[in-house]
Amino acid sequence: MEKQEIRTFGRRHGKKLSSRQITLIENILPKISPINIPNQTNLILEIGFGSGEHLREISRKMPEKIIIGAEPFMNGVASLLSAITDEENAIRTEYKNVRIFPDDVRIFLHNTDSKFDQIWVLHPDPWPKAKHTKRRLLNSDFLKLLSEHLAPEGEIIIGTDHWEYFDWIAEQVKQTKLIPTIPSIKIIHTRYQEKNKAGTSTPKYMILKN
Ligand SMILES: C[S@@+](CC[C@H](N)C(=O)[O-])C[C@H]1O[C@@H](n2cnc3c(N)ncnc32)[C@H](O)[C@@H]1O
Repeated sequence: MEKQEIRTFGRRHGKKLSSRQITLIENILPKISPINIPNQTNLILEIGFGSGEHLREISRKMPEKIIIGAEPFMNGVASLLSAITDEENAIRTEYKNVRIFPDDVRIFLHNTDSKFDQIWVLHPDPWPKAKHTKRRLLNSDFLKLLSEHLAPEGEIIIGTDHWEYFDWIAEQVKQTKLIPTIPSIKIIHTRYQEKNKAGTSTPKYMILKN
């Protein structure tokens, strides 16, 4: 990161990783780093992919695209690695287009010129307490950074079931040149959304374009 930025995520590590997961992190993860992808088109970025269910879905749906996921929570990274590899720890054919950046996406974005056709941010940590608002990732500075990394006609797709955060993001968007639309899309299934759907509101989505 260019300057010390406020941490926007909770834990980096959860329960102990299995020996297979440790092997995957040591041997496979470095081979699918998105760093040094030469100026390429057909790139998609998912920020905070959690365990990677949605990332896997889009990588299967769009085999012609490179799908880059950024996630600092190493248990999530390990879950995704387990799901995209076979019993011999080789990447499954349908996931050959997956790349993983196992850290804060801002570090990645500050170190690449890549432009993305789509940038997905599904259920960003809402940091609901007033004293934690500064931890929210989707502030105007970050949205401006995303805007610089959009390919022509590219779009940022944001979804959250935290309506107050949704409205807060909409206010942040007004401080940028991004143009928001509210799509009438069906619910996008992610682990977080599945876990929370009994207790919280339905997700709201917005799409931002330059
Ligand atoms: C509430 S979870 C949602 C996970 C997933 N998108 C889902 O819907 O199941 C938010 C995720 O964003 C990640 N996150 C927070 N700040 C981030 C950042 N600066 N860069 C990348 N990921 C981040 C967290 O580690 C966490 O896994």
